[in-house]
Amino acid sequence: MIVRKTPAELDKMRASGLLVYRILQELGGMVKEGVSTLDLEEAAERMVKEAGARPAFKNYYVPAVGQRYKYVLCTSVNDEVVHGLPSAKRILKSGDIVKIDTGVELNGYFGDSAITVGVGEIDPAVQKLMDVTRESLELAIRQVKAGNRLFDICAAVEGHVTSNGFTIVREFVGHGIGTQLHEEPQVPNYVDRKNENPRLKEGMVLAIEPMVNAGKPETKVASDKWTAQTKDGSYSAHFEHCVAVTANGPWVLTRP
Ligand code: MF3
Ligand code: CO
Repeated sequence: MIVRKTPAELDKMRASGLLVYRILQELGGMVKEGVSTLDLEEAAERMVKEAGARPAFKNYYVPAVGQRYKYVLCTSVNDEVVHGLPSAKRILKSGDIVKIDTGVELNGYFGDSAITVGVGEIDPAVQKLMDVTRESLELAIRQVKAGNRLFDICAAVEGHVTSNGFTIVREFVGHGIGTQLHEEPQVPNYVDRKNENPRLKEGMVLAIEPMVNAGKPETKVASDKWTAQTKDGSYSAHFEHCVAVTANGPWVLTRP
């Protein structure tokens, strides 16, 4: 069942969304050569606490791993796709791209967003990967309106990514969000005809999160049991926003 939110509930989700936005803005500004992914984690934890919120990922049970996640952030560098573990040993250097993904729970409602940030000088082909991934999310956001269907969102991402010669990660998908971090429906970044194709209705909120690889689409899990990385070592980009279906069209909750 896809839970629809009332306008009052959407206002609460807006507050969570804007907190996530503020955190990611701050962390994005911190990213430079010499900074570790644990530095980002510590700054995020402080901001979540100061806002009186709860980190949504910390202690979240992930069935595919069979364990609880231990951090506020996922910090995934270069060929790492998602669930990269913050570490003092992972020191960012010029040419790296770091995906920062975080969620919060504030007043019972969740917000979830991710950005990919370049460190120093970025190879033009890698910049293109980031640009196309961000554009695919923007195209998907435009499809979030009453009367459209879920596949309109999936197709928007898929079309833009594949026509630019990049590939879509299939093992991880977007999701509904509300009083739970992960609600129905799943939001794959490709049209999955095995899935249902529900009509979008006012009050639905979707976390849309394209994960896009420069090379082959397949991923594997690292020996830490968490970090998903591309099998072929190619770079991967990720952007995520929470978007509500409203009478006035898409409302991106995770940015001003
Ligand atoms: N943004 C991802 C998602 O929406 C990461 C959350 S998984 C966790 O599923 F392990 F970090 F909690
Ligand atoms: Co998400």
